[in-house]
Amino acid sequence: MKDRNNRILLDMEAINAYNATPGNGITRPTFSPEYQGAATYVIDELKKIGAEITICRAGNIRGRLPGAEPDAAAVMMGSHLDSVAHGGQFDGVVGVVTALEAARAIVEGQVNHRLPVDVVIFAEEEGSRFGRGLLGSSAWTGRVTPGQLAAIQDAQGISFTAAMSNAGIEVDDSGELKPGDVRAMLEVHIEQGAVLEKHGSRIGLVEAIAGIRQLNISIHGTADHAGTTPMADRSDPLQAAAGIILAIDQIAKDSGPHTVATVGRITCEPAQVNVIPGRVRFSVDVRDSKLKVLESAVAAIIQCTKTSCSEKGLSFEIDQLSEAEPVTLSKNIIDFLEKKTRSMDVEPHRMISGAGHDTALLAGLAEAGMIFVPSRDGLSHCPQEYSRLEDIALACDILLAAVIELAA
Ligand code: GLV
Ligand code: MN
Ligand code: MN
Repeated sequence: MKDRNNRILLDMEAINAYNATPGNGITRPTFSPEYQGAATYVIDELKKIGAEITICRAGNIRGRLPGAEPDAAAVMMGSHLDSVAHGGQFDGVVGVVTALEAARAIVEGQVNHRLPVDVVIFAEEEGSRFGRGLLGSSAWTGRVTPGQLAAIQDAQGISFTAAMSNAGIEVDDSGELKPGDVRAMLEVHIEQGAVLEKHGSRIGLVEAIAGIRQLNISIHGTADHAGTTPMADRSDPLQAAAGIILAIDQIAKDSGPHTVATVGRITCEPAQVNVIPGRVRFSVDVRDSKLKVLESAVAAIIQCTKTSCSEKGLSFEIDQLSEAEPVTLSKNIIDFLEKKTRSMDVEPHRMISGAGHDTALLAGLAEAGMIFVPSRDGLSHCPQEYSRLEDIALACDILLAAVIELAA
């Protein structure tokens, strides 16, 4: 067991050494040199245990232990290695290192398995580089077509496909995942909230993953002189945006007990102290585990933008950046993971994930489950993100026991 903890720790340290912002959180954008360094480390570790490596559609990485029936539906486990800018060391990485360690334990223990066991690394989970979260899993499951993928660019205008080839990545399986390819998908992840800490529980089992809508709202007015333009004659998009942003907060509070809405990015042009802004753009991220509540909150935000802009004579555009439906995970898998957790003398806590996860996409074609470990003070997407090694190793033990049984 000590070995397991040590190996997980070493894997995490090796991966997090690949970081574009040392001393200021983890920044590892998809297909960047840091990302490629971390991915290559995991690929090399997988090769050491004889896993067959395939680069799948959209740059997702799969390391396969074939099993006695190599063409049967696989048991998948894994997560992502890309990060938000200045994020933490645990988001995504925990799911990759626990899957890697479980695969090592299967090989070293010479565990017989009938079904293939896959360790997967999904590309662009965060959407931090290409603006669309869950992109690798969405493309792999056919929710994003190759044409749509080719049109996606980062902030520098580099396309997803060009970024992949600049990083030297060649896809060797461009097929989509279909029902029948995957028997089950299991992802270990940090909770990224404070529910487990509040319950004093070391393991969370996810019953549902919240749906997400991400919008970009642009408001156009007239840039003009800050000193000579009377207040009544202004066409100021930032004043309108300020009102809409305050209203978004209230819409989320009024929508449902679990609705959350965030304006995380705002840009203003020309951004000069003595110039009335001509254009403002801001992002909106809205989440709820109930589709109807989510849709009505988004509709209220759109309506509020329309009303506010028309009252002030401003024009606007709303683009949808990404969407993910709320997803219910497999009851069978949750019950099964609960038994495995209890067999280790730990009482799991069933919960809803407010964060998005690639497993939500896989849940459309396989039985899917997620195992959460507590996040200290509930913090995530920031340098302070922290989860205890003992909890991560416990999640790895549960994952391993589950995969052995599912793939038997
Ligand atoms: C990913 O971490 C998300 O929930 O946006
Ligand atoms: Mn994550
Ligand atoms: Mn994240």
